[in-house]
Amino acid sequence: MKKEILTPQKTDYDIETPYERDVRPRKLTDYIGQEKVKDGLKIFIEAAKHRGDNLDHILLYGPPGVGKTTLAYVIAHELNVSIKITSGPILEKIGDLAAILTNLEEREVLFIDEIHRLNRSVEEMLYPALEEYKLDILIGQGPGAKILRIDIPRFTLIGATTRAGLLTSPLRNRFGLTMRLDYYKDDEIVYILERSAKIMGLTINREASLEVAQRTRGTPRIANRILRRIRDYAQVKSHEIIDRACVLEAFELLDVDDKGFDSMDRKLLDTIIDKFSGGPVGIDSLAASLSEDKETLEDVYEPYLIQKGYIQRTTRGRMATPLAYEYLKKNSKQREDTLF
Ligand SMILES: Nc1ncnc2c1ncn2[C@@H]1O[C@H](COP(=O)(O)OP(=O)(O)O)[C@@H](O)[C@H]1O
Ligand SMILES: [Mg+2]
Repeated sequence: MKKEILTPQKTDYDIETPYERDVRPRKLTDYIGQEKVKDGLKIFIEAAKHRGDNLDHILLYGPPGVGKTTLAYVIAHELNVSIKITSGPILEKIGDLAAILTNLEEREVLFIDEIHRLNRSVEEMLYPALEEYKLDILIGQGPGAKILRIDIPRFTLIGATTRAGLLTSPLRNRFGLTMRLDYYKDDEIVYILERSAKIMGLTINREASLEVAQRTRGTPRIANRILRRIRDYAQVKSHEIIDRACVLEAFELLDVDDKGFDSMDRKLLDTIIDKFSGGPVGIDSLAASLSEDKETLEDVYEPYLIQKGYIQRTTRGRMATPLAYEYLKKNSKQREDTLF
């Protein structure tokens, strides 16, 4: 279902061509928005460079598509060091991690995406590496086994996760800095769109960028993807300049409405209201009813609907708000009658 335009996670459509690779900012000055995070980073990067030491380990958390991976690259660039990329699920065995750690260079950045998905033994091997830059290697088996402790380079770990809450506390505590990336404001998305358009050789006017920005769920990945689809549309229709009319036609085709909701969002709200009388409904029942997995609902759909005030998360489950009734043009009167 979620192979759609609005999914904040990577899809086949995001496989990078040289143009699209250029769209990813490399320097802090090109990284738009997240001002508080950037201000903090500038100071820490400067200080680390001044000391000639590695930067403290950083945990980046936030919803998919808001720039965690991009920021890790930017940080490495600003530190003038290289970066090695891996992810929680890829590091299956302690040997995988040991191989990476022993091959790092001094001050290099190691980026572990989806760090909440590290398995226990790999995670435990990481603790002394983060704290003391040491690696414990088990030699031999049984009673004769020995632990060999070796030095590794002073590196910087950047961990990324959509769910900081899923990290164990010993791991979380080993990060010197924890930074939360949030959804972008419309005017920030406008900048991102204009920057990307320029790189892609497109002409889009301000009115059109704003129209697009309002439907991107505050997510740069979605913004860039929509821009590429609009480029395709404009090409086929031979529009030289992308204006508001062109954008509106394209959205019609993409089935994205003026709230930035697609059919899945509408179905979700509809289900809470019609099947569960507006809620509260537990996430498991909701997932079963929509034939969607729980994590996708929690990571992809809910955050935006909650942020925009269409769903409320209560201790007893999810509830549709008056905004949701209004949006779907459904009467909430009946519901109030049954409540009071
Ligand atoms: N602050 C930003 N400024 C400009 N473009 C951004 C920014 N953050 C993200 N992007 C764009 O959005 C895309 C997705 O970002 P990414 O870092 O992969 O997200 P995440 O790792 O959080 O899922 C990137 O390819 C990049 O082009
Ligand atoms: Mg990423």
